[in-house]
Amino acid sequence: MDEPATRALLAELGRSLFARGFSVGSAGNISVRLPDGYLMTPTNSSLGRLDPARIAKLDDDFRHIDGDPPSKEVFMHRAMYRGRAAAGAPVGAVVHLHSTMATAVACLPDIDPTNPIPPLTPYFVMRVGRAMPVIPYYRPGDAAMEPAIAAAAEGARAMLLANHGPVVSGKTLTDAVYAAEELEEAAKLFLLLRTSAPRLLTPSQVDDLLTTFQ
Ligand code: 13P
Repeated sequence: MDEPATRALLAELGRSLFARGFSVGSAGNISVRLPDGYLMTPTNSSLGRLDPARIAKLDDDFRHIDGDPPSKEVFMHRAMYRGRAAAGAPVGAVVHLHSTMATAVACLPDIDPTNPIPPLTPYFVMRVGRAMPVIPYYRPGDAAMEPAIAAAAEGARAMLLANHGPVVSGKTLTDAVYAAEELEEAAKLFLLLRTSAPRLLTPSQVDDLLTTFQ
């Protein structure tokens, strides 16, 4: 996909996420890897009204080179790309949302911070993977979050930022958006089932999914 098509797809998927309430106000940001750098949503922009021509362009070192100023969460995105690459699993896009259910889980004090949402459904496992840790709270835009996210990204495709929201990666922009949507649904199921003892996918069912749909 060339850069104009990627810009158009970013605006289209942002509009779709916003229309369905995955993002409100100017919350959330999305980035995509290009052959010569990255596209990133501008800071303070609404995912529902992105202008493809004004999306920020960054070079390979995440320096702003064109378009509106990028999201203040550039460190978060950079950490995810670098952490996944260090793990030998480079990614093509990163989606950060404040989606309600995933953020609710990120506010619970009594969850397992190494993996709060168990393997409830195949698509959560297929899109998000085996583990999704919770990262301690950092102020939005705080560069200090970068080492924590990069370290977690070496072992996970997605994570929750405590009291803030999910950060999700994918091989492509569409993959990353689909994973963010599956994470939100899994968080909803987790909260719905919190007082029950649901049947979970077994370790061998999880292994089968991850081997079959890698
Ligand atoms: P930006 O508007 O700078 O992208 O920040 C929004 C956000 O979601 C902060 O976490």
